Amino acid sequence: MKNGEFIPLMVPDIHPEDIDAVAMVLRSGMLVQGEKVAEFETNVSKYIGTKNAIAVSNGTSSLYLALIALGIGQGDEVIVPAFSFMATANAVELTGAKPVFVDISAETFNIDINLIEKAITRKTRAIMPVHEFGLACDINEIISIAEKHHLKVIEDAACALGAAENSQYTGTFGDIGSFSFHPRKAITSGEGGMLTTNDDRIAFKLRALRNHGIEINDGKSEFALAGYNFRMTDFQAALLLSQFARLNEIIDYKDKLAQVYFTELQDCNKLILPHVPQNKRHSWQSFHVVLHDDIDRDRLIIQLKGKGIGTNLGAQCMPFQKFFREKYKLNCSKLFPNAMKAYFKGLVLPLYGLLDENNIRYICNTIKD
Ligand SMILES: Cc1ncc(COP(=O)(O)O)c(C=O)c1O
Repeated sequence: MKNGEFIPLMVPDIHPEDIDAVAMVLRSGMLVQGEKVAEFETNVSKYIGTKNAIAVSNGTSSLYLALIALGIGQGDEVIVPAFSFMATANAVELTGAKPVFVDISAETFNIDINLIEKAITRKTRAIMPVHEFGLACDINEIISIAEKHHLKVIEDAACALGAAENSQYTGTFGDIGSFSFHPRKAITSGEGGMLTTNDDRIAFKLRALRNHGIEINDGKSEFALAGYNFRMTDFQAALLLSQFARLNEIIDYKDKLAQVYFTELQDCNKLILPHVPQNKRHSWQSFHVVLHDDIDRDRLIIQLKGKGIGTNLGAQCMPFQKFFREKYKLNCSKLFPNAMKAYFKGLVLPLYGLLDENNIRYICNTIKD
């Protein structure tokens, strides 16, 4: 971005070849789920290392389908972090199950693994951790807890394509992984989502559920379930495929810019920088800092906008939002202090391929001013 130009919080980095790839599909006349969707699914499953990848319409429908495919609904409970984008809790709620909120770690913004077992009841069916902002949660510990209590694990990896723990990619640890291709993500199709699983039976069910309940057995198809239409279009898949070829490059570049934030802001005692444990590869969907209590975050957002910089809060304390507040009446400040702090004092700074190190330095100097 040139000096003096407004720096939005996020601009998708779409290259001319990405647009050409979309135009080719549009010219072909084959617009809905077809060859490009299949190719994209193959590429994602090879990259992250799951047997199956199933493309869907967005990251919310993918979470919802994951829950439905595991038979979760009325009377069940699903453990989720208190701090995430609302889609995480909404997906659970919409199945008829109850989201059970657990506070996050103040350091990583991911679910606090030490609090999970206390939240398990006879009704708990699954844990749905989030790899928040692109940092893998403590997924191996979560899998151990789930195995001990015979629970399913759905990884909400909406922000975390390419993120990893001990070189194993997110979306490959649990029963099902769920990704989003919203414009704030590393690669985007405007709307788009992906489910990943090593379980062929779950994959078979997910494929049927996304496509009107059609099951294909020995080449013969029939409407075997009451399904949805949560398909991805072929031109969206072409757009994703083209960007996917650059995924590692995109993440590495974001990491390079993130290091500039770390260097430039390390001496700023008015904010806490994100913490990246050694064994994790951050995919940097967002660079999220937490401001000190005496800083008015919303005023700072307006001031930065006046200086040509777009910033925003990172995610919600979900049980504190109107619907969940009125339905479950939880004392959020007492139960979820870290989620409340991240919700009220968290700030996401611009981080994407169209920025360079000078842009980041300008942002840092302006914040410090
Ligand atoms: C953690 C998390 N889960 C789910 C979603 C929903 O994804 P989508 O916007 O593709 O529906 C998002 C979107 O930003 C998210 O951040």
